[in-house]
Amino acid sequence: MAEQQGTGDRSVLKDRVTGRVVGISVAAALGGFLFGFDTAVINGAVDALAGEFALGKGLTGFAVASALLGCALGAWFAGPLANKRGRVPVMVVAAVLFLVSALGSGLAFGVVDLILWRVVGGLGVGAASVIAPAYIAEVSPAQVRGRLGSMQQLAIVLGIFVALLSDAMFAGLAGGASNEFWLGLEAWRWMFLAEAVPAIAYGLFSLRLPESPRFLVARGRLDEAARVLHDFTGVDRVNLVIEDIRLSVQSERRESLSDLRGSALGLKPIVWVGILLSVFQQAVGINVIFYYSTTLWKSVGFGESDALLITVLTSVTNIAVTIVAIMLVDKVGRRPMLLVGSLGMTVSLGLMALCFSFSTVTVAADGIEAVSLGAPWSTLALIAANAFVVFFGATWGPLTWVLLGEMFPNRIRASALAVAAAAQWAANFVVSTTFPALAAVGLTFAYGLYALMALLSFLFVRTYVAETKGKTLEQMSDAVEVAPRRRAAVAREAGDA
Ligand code: GLC
Repeated sequence: MAEQQGTGDRSVLKDRVTGRVVGISVAAALGGFLFGFDTAVINGAVDALAGEFALGKGLTGFAVASALLGCALGAWFAGPLANKRGRVPVMVVAAVLFLVSALGSGLAFGVVDLILWRVVGGLGVGAASVIAPAYIAEVSPAQVRGRLGSMQQLAIVLGIFVALLSDAMFAGLAGGASNEFWLGLEAWRWMFLAEAVPAIAYGLFSLRLPESPRFLVARGRLDEAARVLHDFTGVDRVNLVIEDIRLSVQSERRESLSDLRGSALGLKPIVWVGILLSVFQQAVGINVIFYYSTTLWKSVGFGESDALLITVLTSVTNIAVTIVAIMLVDKVGRRPMLLVGSLGMTVSLGLMALCFSFSTVTVAADGIEAVSLGAPWSTLALIAANAFVVFFGATWGPLTWVLLGEMFPNRIRASALAVAAAAQWAANFVVSTTFPALAAVGLTFAYGLYALMALLSFLFVRTYVAETKGKTLEQMSDAVEVAPRRRAAVAREAGDA
């Protein structure tokens, strides 16, 4: 009876979508744009850097990958900061980190400070990767939360695309990334400096964002929370929503990483689900496609400009399928989409493994030197790689971020998301740095392993991932941890009324 009343109350609380909530979600998703831009901008600059600072392949690889470790650190620290100071200050800090990194990398004196500035940018990427999904989930009405959350991934893939374009533009205008372009600075420096523009925009927008109502309620700032809910999210019955949130964060005195502890395996089961979602998203090898594709297609026999064109087309495909995901996510639901994605990735990666079994790979001490792959296998490999991007981009790419933003109870959201995102960056680092070694064993072995991971991701989703479509964050918190406490409170209120 009490339970029915609780559910009934909630159904009255159908939030209205307002232009404002879309606006603030887009502004928060700008963090995703910088995430994509920052991780991709190095592509166009990397050869020039190697030339300018006389780097061997090993050090060049480290210069590229070091930023990923910064991302893991940034994600880790974003949690406590978001809990202590709020969601918006994390965005402002991330914007400052992006700006400092853009200027520092663009004006770097040598490889040591360049790596340092890239790590600083990585801290920003990590922080943005945590705060955008958390903030968007916390301000969104339940029925469109998947769409708004997927805008983060759209922003990421747009960021990747714009970085590729802007790199190509600077290199094109200067006649090569190492050539001087303007003010005595080489084109590669301008590639990094260009990031200052979105960084400043992100900072300025962030300063105008309202704080998350869930954070405000947790801090007891109920009037401010009521104002935000009313003005920005179009909620009708503000007091009921606030009460719902209050009950779900009731025990939040000072949320900390120790709140993530559970009885089995050291952490709460839901935190493990988040970590594994993150790790599987990376273990299928998506970033191997993004970080190594130009080199791969070149070595397969496509010319330099064709290989670059393929990379650009792949990133356009990724943008297009993210839009498909945005259209489907709140209708079809997260679970069926992830399951279809896992199967599609298993097949396409398996096909790549098959194609490369017909290749001969020449390996140097520091990575792949050449891959010889004849027709029709090279064309088929290219089709399979793009099919893989389609399946990933329409499902696991956006949905991992959507789920990480919404699946954790209010009380532990920021910390749990920070841990899961840090795990994702660590997994990204491991997958992208081990690819050359795996490829040296054989490309069939490497892609076969990613296919196996995709298959395991199917079993994982089927067994452990719960559907979150259409539920309010508080309903999910209920299911995970506060059901008994809440039921008692609702019964008490029903008795008072
Ligand atoms: C997701 C992944 C990220 C990847 C991107 C590519 O956002 O988290 O690592 O680069 O998708 O689309």
